[in-house]
Amino acid sequence: MNLSALRKAVERDRAEGWLPFCVAASAGTVNTGAVDPLDDLADFCREQGLWMHVDGAYGAFGILDQQVSPLFSGLERADSVALDPHKWLATPIECSCAIVREGEVLRETFSLVPPYLHTEPGKGFGGLPGFSEYGFQQTRRFNTLKLLWVIQQAGRTSLVAYVTRHNVLAQYMAILIDAAQDLERVAPVELSIVCFRYVPDHLRGEEDQLDALNKHIMEEVQAGGKAFVNGTLLHGRFVLRSCALHYALTEADVAAIIEEVRRVGGRCLA
Ligand SMILES: Cc1ncc(COP(=O)(O)O)c(C=O)c1O
Repeated sequence: MNLSALRKAVERDRAEGWLPFCVAASAGTVNTGAVDPLDDLADFCREQGLWMHVDGAYGAFGILDQQVSPLFSGLERADSVALDPHKWLATPIECSCAIVREGEVLRETFSLVPPYLHTEPGKGFGGLPGFSEYGFQQTRRFNTLKLLWVIQQAGRTSLVAYVTRHNVLAQYMAILIDAAQDLERVAPVELSIVCFRYVPDHLRGEEDQLDALNKHIMEEVQAGGKAFVNGTLLHGRFVLRSCALHYALTEADVAAIIEEVRRVGGRCLA
């Protein structure tokens, strides 16, 4: 997120009579894993009286890796953070969390207790936390049990090791891509996501053809069942995207993904 563009957008909204109230920053964007300048955004939100939300669904657990944790400076100042342990914390789908600094605000917003659920503190089972008062959902599964098991089974040390290794493996993938004549990396690698495309020499600059070729490569790689990459649009162009999240991922797997993309690319061209 570009702070000066944000400032202008907020000023423009106010000038037009709108009431901006919230900035939704990212700690690891979906496409590239970029982390916004959270400390600067927290300063801005405080100065402007805006709620600071951070989407850390994928990336917030990156903070466990000491090499990249400075990127997350300011995350602790957010009013709310979204986290998906079912992404980087190896928890079975689905297990999503919203952490809110002032839980009471959430309760004031969502609480709608029908008479049959009304309890009084200290009477019956009254006083137990009623999670249905903190969101839309009333009946819900015991999702936190899965997360508790993961944390107890792996322990902090192992979770730090997974996350750190994924970031290292993404850097390794970037090295393989940068060394390959027919591959081009299309975004900086901040966490465990790598975006790249297959660019044979004779198609350099032929953007529409490269889009079509890379989309075809993605489909062939996926259907082949040997490796997995997905695709996304960056600056309007189709690119391949790899996201390291599986706890058992190895260097050999990363090399195999790159090899498969190049093999399939060569075959598509032929
Ligand atoms: C940064 C980010 N936010 C939100 C989502 C949506 O998460 P979910 O599918 O768990 O709702 C994703 C999914 O990829 C994501 O990467």
